[in-house]
Amino acid sequence: MSSEPTVVRDVVARYHGEKRALIPILQDIQDRFRWLSSETLDDVARELDISPAHVYSVATFYKSFSLRPRGRHICTVCMGTACHVRGGGAVLEHFERKLGIAAGQTSADGEYTLERVNCLGACALAPLVVADGRYYGQMNETKANAVLETLKPAPASADGTEAGG
Ligand code: FES
Repeated sequence: MSSEPTVVRDVVARYHGEKRALIPILQDIQDRFRWLSSETLDDVARELDISPAHVYSVATFYKSFSLRPRGRHICTVCMGTACHVRGGGAVLEHFERKLGIAAGQTSADGEYTLERVNCLGACALAPLVVADGRYYGQMNETKANAVLETLKPAPASADGTEAGG
């Protein structure tokens, strides 16, 4: 696996070291590591020859950037008004119980991040959960279990490779 500085260097090179490409550069690096550590932001600043403060300000301005570790799977429970009145709170508690983490946390094995948001803009589907970008409406505990089942890592086969495709 490439080290972080190597990945940063490669991504910056792909954008020919263009300072104005800072946002897509950060996006590409986050796609790779799922989050942006302070070391990574420092590496980006150094490679682009811009101030770390500027890189930090961009990374903290856009909500799409995460400065905390994120899991391989992201579960987002909507707690906007429509979802809340239709049982969003119970759904969130169920996810917290099943994943063993509170909203805003990432599991120790790096598999899951649980998030809560205020309205995902699809209130007709309340209560709503988004798992790895897929929308699941009219959520309840049974459906939540089915969703979590789809996120489980495939069991390793005898030769050590992951089963399935
Ligand atoms: S309140 Fe949940 S989608 Fe709007």
